[in-house]
Amino acid sequence: MPNNSTPKILPSEITDEQDYLNRREFLRLAGVATAGALLSTACQADVSNAAATAGKPAGESNFSGGSLGKLQKSPFSTDEKPNSYEDITTYNNFYEFGTGKDDPHRNSKDFVSKPWTVTIAGECDKPGAYDFDDLMKKSTLEERIYRLRCVEAWSMIVPWVGISMATLLKRFEPNSRAKFVKFTTLHDPEQMPTQRRRILDWPYVEGLTIAEAMNPLTIMVVGVYGKVLPNQNGAPLRLMVPWKYGFKSIKSIVHIEFTEKQPLNTWQISAPQEYGFYANVNPDVDHPRWSQARERRIGTGLFGEKIPTLMFNGYGEHIAHLYSGLDLAKHF
Ligand code: MTE
Repeated sequence: MPNNSTPKILPSEITDEQDYLNRREFLRLAGVATAGALLSTACQADVSNAAATAGKPAGESNFSGGSLGKLQKSPFSTDEKPNSYEDITTYNNFYEFGTGKDDPHRNSKDFVSKPWTVTIAGECDKPGAYDFDDLMKKSTLEERIYRLRCVEAWSMIVPWVGISMATLLKRFEPNSRAKFVKFTTLHDPEQMPTQRRRILDWPYVEGLTIAEAMNPLTIMVVGVYGKVLPNQNGAPLRLMVPWKYGFKSIKSIVHIEFTEKQPLNTWQISAPQEYGFYANVNPDVDHPRWSQARERRIGTGLFGEKIPTLMFNGYGEHIAHLYSGLDLAKHF
């Protein structure tokens, strides 16, 4: 939930160049460059004891902090070569731990993600506080090798380990008024140093339509490369919606709420003319300050060559129907 004591960057402050400069000044005084510019230059679990054997719930095996065991393979995985574990865990966007790409892995070493409680609220019949370990015990872990396309025009291939978001959400029995799902990151300035600075409206929030959340491609990630999720990647659980820009994939989630109204997301609050609710990967709709037609694949292209960006990040056959009739240039 947005922190109301945080000064907001009003849309009226960022509609023309002078106002844009005012915002720069505001953020400079707050200690950093503009939030939008930061995202442009960068934007970039201990799954506790939730080991999984293929097709079996995680609780049936035991592991602590290391390998997640044998994972169920997924037909949704790409056969493209994954980025290295090092790329995936040292080139990150997690502003709670700093705004540089190598800040999150340096600054999140002592982050405590266990025990972890996720609260469920809103339009559902089973709200409440759920222990992450208990949730994992009833979950089947899958490997999903997905393309990750950041709004900043870089990309990676990541072998995530996750559970079906639809299966998870259905446990809380959303009712017919549940049209959207809102996700919230932990707010803990003691542990997340950048939350002591007003560079974003903390805590980080995100939202999906209920249809997007229930789509088979959408997963709750709890690991990477067969191991529990490192802190810098959003331990102990983070969202992954592979056809959307990476900023939708909110990390270290503590709260999930089923809502009737469309929720705002953090980047939309920060710069509404640059970031929308949908944030579908779209090479035909440029960011106001840069092209989205091509992307730099991290770990390849010695000379920084870019490859073409695919509509919906290449996942259109599974999700394009969700947006039929929607003007994607307007609803970016
Ligand atoms: N979630 C939170 N809470 N805070 C963040 O700063 N950054 C987002 C997203 N989730 C972010 C977040 C952005 S911009 C991207 S591109 C992805 O996380 C990056 O995920 P990765 O670091 O695992 O590659």
